[in-house]
Amino acid sequence: MKKLVSVLLVLSLMFTLVACNSAEKATSEPEEESLKIGVTIYKFDDNFMSFVRRAVEKNAEGKAELILNDSQNDQAKQNDQVEMMLSKGVKSLAINLVDPQAAPTIIAKAKEEGTPVVFFNKEPSAEDMASYEKCWYVGTTSSESGIIQGKLIADSWKNHPEWDKNRDGKIQYVLLKGEPGHPDAEARTKYSVETVVSEGIQVDELELQTGMWDSVKAKELMDAWFAKHGDSIEFVIANNDAMALGAVNSLKAEGYFKEDKIMPVVGVDAIPDALTQIEAGTLVGSVLNDAANQGKATVDLALNVAEGKDVLDGTEWKLDDKKSVRVPYLPITNDNIQIAKDCYAE
Ligand code: BGC
Ligand code: CA
Repeated sequence: MKKLVSVLLVLSLMFTLVACNSAEKATSEPEEESLKIGVTIYKFDDNFMSFVRRAVEKNAEGKAELILNDSQNDQAKQNDQVEMMLSKGVKSLAINLVDPQAAPTIIAKAKEEGTPVVFFNKEPSAEDMASYEKCWYVGTTSSESGIIQGKLIADSWKNHPEWDKNRDGKIQYVLLKGEPGHPDAEARTKYSVETVVSEGIQVDELELQTGMWDSVKAKELMDAWFAKHGDSIEFVIANNDAMALGAVNSLKAEGYFKEDKIMPVVGVDAIPDALTQIEAGTLVGSVLNDAANQGKATVDLALNVAEGKDVLDGTEWKLDDKKSVRVPYLPITNDNIQIAKDCYAE
């Protein structure tokens, strides 16, 4: 009898433990079921994208669980990452494509699961955007950055007649292009120069090659161009700041930026390292590419669609006819540098 009682006691104790356990499970359930959003960055090793990534992480804090992937500049890898995230049950995807042409591949995978996609920074074609009703884009109007950069070049050139070293009235420039096929790279290359010309300034293109958005590659190109053209180069136009900074490093090694040996260099992004150079007088200016707001808009949209709400619910963003939110660019020189500092300090 005694034995039976103790067996019963043990049993009831076990039952209580099991019951407690399952109660605990029930209360922690919502946390386990947290909203998952799948994010890819085309490569973590990109100066500008590291700021966008930070903004994405910050804005998602406490609202969603991010599955964040470094696609390491490899589209095949990114495709696998998207499949993996879909199999983990993400409620939406936020995709910074490696190759802007690969949007149809990502859309096909998302479509199968009915999962919404917010592309950001690398804009898919209008046709691809129209092919899936549950996809959107967050970025900029690429041409705007080229036009603003062109204005910066023209205004500074007009203010510094001494920059025309051979006194022929034309700008002999070299241009560091971003990744070919990237809408930002194509538009900045085209519109920066076109704007200078439309301001009544004649130009000679000494060199134009891709530095793939990268400082080290840009420095190598600038080294080679300097060896070939030397002081005949009168202006360095870079599609982004990372490459502008690479060019500055090369030029410093050639004795520029000391005493009155000046080479005007302009970039785009207005990242903190570039702002330091603008303050030091080494960079003429840059164009603010608002990483903080692009990261925020990406999360705002991805969260809304993950929760089945209207994509703009509770936000102040507007969509254009290509289902895109476009964050404005802004010219940055020493005069208004604080705006860019505040943006990147967030
Ligand atoms: C930025 C570049 C960056 C690229 C990445 C552009 O908008 O200006 O700095 O490398 O996006 O896709
Ligand atoms: Ca000249």
